[in-house]
Amino acid sequence: MQAIEISPFTKDVLKGKVAAVTGGSSGIGLEIAKQLGLHGAHVAICGRRQKPIDDAVAEFASLGIRAFGAQCDVRKPEHATSFINGAVREFGRLDILVNSAAGNFLCPAEDLSVNGFKTVMEIDAVGVFNMSKAAFEALRGHGTIVNISATLHYGATWFQVHASSAKAAIDSITRTLGMEWGPEGIRTVGVAPGPVAGTAGMTKLAPGMSDAVNELVPLKRMATKWEIAMSVLFLVSNGAGYITGETLVVDGGSWLNTSLTPPIPKELIRQASRDIEKKSRNTGLARSKL
Ligand code: COA
Repeated sequence: MQAIEISPFTKDVLKGKVAAVTGGSSGIGLEIAKQLGLHGAHVAICGRRQKPIDDAVAEFASLGIRAFGAQCDVRKPEHATSFINGAVREFGRLDILVNSAAGNFLCPAEDLSVNGFKTVMEIDAVGVFNMSKAAFEALRGHGTIVNISATLHYGATWFQVHASSAKAAIDSITRTLGMEWGPEGIRTVGVAPGPVAGTAGMTKLAPGMSDAVNELVPLKRMATKWEIAMSVLFLVSNGAGYITGETLVVDGGSWLNTSLTPPIPKELIRQASRDIEKKSRNTGLARSKL
């Protein structure tokens, strides 16, 4: 089932809205910012490196999207405040905050330094808190926060104790702010992607393993960045106006699939399951006690 990249949303669905996207100069964040812009929003993006920010703002301008970019390390509360204030100064308001900035690498837990663990916790979890807190007043009464999470912590994930802990914390922030800030007029939601083609995540976490990863996904392919962006678009749209505290899994069924192959081959199951059923009927084993 290939991705069909034709937007189901009208081009002006976000007209008059302003969106801030962290990590918006590369990867999933860049695509999210672009799609929010192509659907009518003005966009503010931040990242740690100036060049990708400048390139993204130039690309957005060429697409007719009004954009503002600023350097920002989401780990630093003063950077978060400065970025949000800059966006509000530029566009006069803020309606959407997408927390997409993240860091990750593979490392066995016994080899991971405390600083390595802390660094990822700080970029991912503390970063989401810093940005949400900085944006609270601007979003109050009408805004939506979207936290980009993952499914690493639904079960357990090899060599990612840092990132899976951080994503668990993010999901908890999503739920808690959903509750605490609902009465303040702010919806807080999340998107949990699985493997996404053409991202730093894939290069770093599964180098040269695209075919194997595709095979593991029940839908038999990775997501495109566009598909993740469309999920965000839905969650910030009026259509999702009654959703808060919830994280939408957009992973082609990946996290459901814990094994490459079924523990018993399908053909054997087809036959054996019927035989077992017949046998237990004959012996009365399957009869209900009720
Ligand atoms: N294996 C083990 N430890 C690692 C590591 C690796 N591959 N990469 C970094 N670390 C450790 C460092 O050794 C350091 O710990 P130490 O001081 O005890 O030695 C700690 O993590 C911080 O690394 P540093 O490079 O100083 O941090 P940074 O802030 O410059 O970079 C990262 C943060 C490491 C997360 C970097 O990969 C990054 O900026 N990533 C953003 C993009 C990204 O990862 N995208 C994918 C998202 S899925």
